[in-house]
Amino acid sequence: MSGFKVAVVGATGNVGREMLAILAERRFPVSELVALASTHSIGREVSFGDKTLKCKALDHYNFSSTDICLMSAGGAVSKEWSPRIGAQGVLVIDNSSAWRMDPDVPLVVPEVNAEAARGFSKKYIVANPNCSTAQLVVALKPLHDHAKIKRVVVSTYQSVSGAGREAMDELFSQTRAVFVSDPVEPKKFPKRIAFNLIPQIDDFMDDGSTKEEWKMVAETKKILDPKIKLTATCVRVPVFISHSEAVNVEFENPISADEAREILREAPGCLVIDRREPGGYITPHEAAGEDATYISRIRDDPTIDNGLNFWCVSDNLRKGAALNAVQIAEVIVNRGWLKPKRAAA
Ligand SMILES: NC(=O)c1ccc[n+]([C@@H]2O[C@H](COP(=O)([O-])OP(=O)(O)OC[C@H]3O[C@@H](n4cnc5c(N)ncnc54)[C@H](OP(=O)(O)O)[C@@H]3O)[C@@H](O)[C@H]2O)c1
Repeated sequence: MSGFKVAVVGATGNVGREMLAILAERRFPVSELVALASTHSIGREVSFGDKTLKCKALDHYNFSSTDICLMSAGGAVSKEWSPRIGAQGVLVIDNSSAWRMDPDVPLVVPEVNAEAARGFSKKYIVANPNCSTAQLVVALKPLHDHAKIKRVVVSTYQSVSGAGREAMDELFSQTRAVFVSDPVEPKKFPKRIAFNLIPQIDDFMDDGSTKEEWKMVAETKKILDPKIKLTATCVRVPVFISHSEAVNVEFENPISADEAREILREAPGCLVIDRREPGGYITPHEAAGEDATYISRIRDDPTIDNGLNFWCVSDNLRKGAALNAVQIAEVIVNRGWLKPKRAAA
């Protein structure tokens, strides 16, 4: 049977389950799929298309005959395991932040810099960007090609699924607790998330920004253009799935809202929903389960030369994580940069 032997590490998690669904939906050429998680999940069942797979433990797994490993088990696991797996000639596509800024690891969003994925052969690792960066660069790239971006000011409204399964459970249980007048206890988040907003995602840095904000700056530069200046404020909101972003862009060259709308309509990965009437825009609820990066509310910013505002929404578990990882694998496989080990044997 032709195809690639694929392992999904973190198969029981939010992103891992979505990876299994997307590999099946997009008919990725899989000859065998192995679901891996921690030792607690040995034997736990996960779905892959119409099949049910039993999870194995990462710790006990031999990768020598595996071709591709989609890694989604957090930074600590990735730091330890990705180089060991990559050293066996297995293409590792990692979802954590562990390798994103390593100069020998490409950081890839296929609509923006697919060609960079070729560099996987240095360490056999490719990094997937942070979820809030992925959707932003999909929208910025076609505008940058047209009018050259000078500076971006972005405010994010990020769903709880971006913080993993336990964070989704916390929003659910706190919401219930509010309704039945039980005490509301923050565990995963630093403050109550139900019926609230939290202006902190990830740890604080010395300059007062958070790591999530820093990631948006550094990753946009690495993927799109190191000359782009970007400043971000990242906020967690009580939404289960999909991140939203209010984006202000200053360009070097003139670009009108109408031109931007036409450019984005043609751009890969983007879907423009922009009618100037009640409901003529996309909300996170509508983007959940979808692949596109939705763009709405495109308008001129009259306070600066060559300025635009827009609203950008995407499913953080799909384009922000699992879909982007599978698209990277597709680029590498479709361009013939990786062959199945079994075929070579
Ligand atoms: N959620 C997003 O929007 C998003 C976006 C971009 C990147 N990411 C990144 O993707 C990764 C996973 O996120 P998530 O939201 O899917 O988290 P999650 O729902 O909490 O799932 C974590 C997964 O990792 C597994 N795991 C934990 N420790 C392990 C170990 N020692 N060995 C093997 N497997 C282990 C868990 O297995 P058990 O069930 O056995 O514990 C589970 O399958 C993180 O690095 C995150 O930063 C997430």
